[in-house]
Amino acid sequence: MNPPTPSDKEVAGRAAAALVEDGMVLGLGTGSTVDHFFLALAERIRDEGIMVRGVPSSRRTAARATELGIPLTDLERDPEPDLVVDGADEVDPELRLVKGGGGALLREKILASLGRRVVVVVGEGKMVERLGTSFLLPVEVTPFGHSAVLKRVAALGRCQAFLRTADDGQPFVTDNGNYVLDCRFDRGIRGPAALHARLSQIPGVVEVGLFLDLCDLVLEGRSDGTVVEHVARKA
Ligand code: 5RP
Repeated sequence: MNPPTPSDKEVAGRAAAALVEDGMVLGLGTGSTVDHFFLALAERIRDEGIMVRGVPSSRRTAARATELGIPLTDLERDPEPDLVVDGADEVDPELRLVKGGGGALLREKILASLGRRVVVVVGEGKMVERLGTSFLLPVEVTPFGHSAVLKRVAALGRCQAFLRTADDGQPFVTDNGNYVLDCRFDRGIRGPAALHARLSQIPGVVEVGLFLDLCDLVLEGRSDGTVVEHVARKA
């Protein structure tokens, strides 16, 4: 019997694991696509004996890495990861990203901003012509005053904003103890940089799920088993 065909997410995750070198400090993103990276990385640790350590972007990732035998570290010990690998909810032609579907956007952005190289792994359907057209934009906000902050986000962002809830109907709480607003833009996000600036200035907004100028390489897995590399054009 033939082995099962790897999924689009799996080929992307495996391609990212091939970029890891012995001794690297890694930033470990959050999500189902990057989980394939963790699996392939764990295989390399086991089979090749490479020594790496990773800074997790969420409790979920910390637990998964521990389960797979990937050693963990933190930004106090290792403040400049060599390679950050993460997923994304949307990627536009300039490799700008929408992130935060898993609610880990704040720590993910801190890691991406500190990493020497940021590689994003996605499956099919994540590449878009304009951000905000296929996914709601996550914005992390403080619980204090969140209803008032939601109104300001909607007004300044010219969007509809919704408080994210968990399965029990209560507000979804991030690892940092905050809430998440999911923002819908009727015709997508026309000026991501301007929107980012407008939303970031609202007191109570902790982080915006727009990742601009942070990504060096996108590995887009396809269901035919190929991986398309999208390389950032640096200014
Ligand atoms: C978590 C994220 C994830 O990277 C993003 O939601 C993509 O997840 P997946 O690979 O499961 O589609 O930003 O905060």
